[in-house]
Amino acid sequence: MGARHGGYPDPVLRVGLIGCGAIGSVVARELSGGAVERAELTAVFDLVVDHPLRVQDRESLLSRSDVVVEAAGHGALRAHGVAVRESGTDLLVVSIGALADEDLESQLRQAEGGRLFLCTGAIGGLDILRAAMLFGPLEEVAISSTKPAAALSRPWMGEDVLDALADGSVPVTVFDGPAREACARFPESANVTATLSLATVGFDRVRVQMVGDPEATGVRHVVSASGVAGNYELSFENAASPDNPRTSAVTAYSVLRALTDMQRPPVSFL
Ligand SMILES: NC(=O)c1ccc[n+]([C@@H]2O[C@H](COP(=O)([O-])OP(=O)(O)OC[C@H]3O[C@@H](n4cnc5c(N)ncnc54)[C@H](O)[C@@H]3O)[C@@H](O)[C@H]2O)c1
Repeated sequence: MGARHGGYPDPVLRVGLIGCGAIGSVVARELSGGAVERAELTAVFDLVVDHPLRVQDRESLLSRSDVVVEAAGHGALRAHGVAVRESGTDLLVVSIGALADEDLESQLRQAEGGRLFLCTGAIGGLDILRAAMLFGPLEEVAISSTKPAAALSRPWMGEDVLDALADGSVPVTVFDGPAREACARFPESANVTATLSLATVGFDRVRVQMVGDPEATGVRHVVSASGVAGNYELSFENAASPDNPRTSAVTAYSVLRALTDMQRPPVSFL
């Protein structure tokens, strides 16, 4: 078997999937429909969801895969991530927020074997921020996430904040602090925050603001960064997945884009 541009054996990239929910089911459907050239869905590992390519255990998944896409959740990444890499299989992680746990992050990074790919998921623009960091340090990196006020109430909030969110007349900033704490307090927002942190200045230096807006109907993330290379502001308003309102529908397509790019097609954006 000859190696292709990306180092995978011919003729097709065999893709195994952990998790066949809102993201995984779209990835599975699109791969089966030929959305990614020279890639084929070969195994689906889900605790609950059935699929014609379903396998019952990790060994069966690994024996059928050149790359495993994790789209199942923090627990699944913790349970299988290191073993996937150690088997020599590449791992594409979608549950990036799990890496806010320092122990898991270092275990995943240190595992030897297959490569570790972090899917950019529901945000982007990381390419220019990483280029800017090669020019010189980014002094400030921040992300502001605005959500419907009612969606941001948490039991740990004070009475005054809960009242302001419930009253619903003006936007309320319910959190302003480092990304690591934001990921712990708002785990459902952890993926984009974690992706930005990992791609730029880290969980302890990215500043996160969470805003509850009575007028908001969806989620809006605004990333800002500045340094010697320039000033950047990137905003994202993603449509929700019809199967999981907490997941942006575009995330599944980000997986497909990653599977395309990791094969280094002859014409690609780098
Ligand atoms: N990177 C991003 O920007 C981004 C965006 C949205 C969601 N996500 C993350 O992607 C992951 C999947 O999201 P989703 O909306 O598809 O979730 P989902 O709940 O719709 O689907 C998850 C699927 O994984 C299965 N599963 C759970 N644990 C498993 C395990 N240990 N082994 C095998 N299967 C298991 C479940 O049965 C379910 O079918 C979540 O962690 C979510 O936070 C990341």
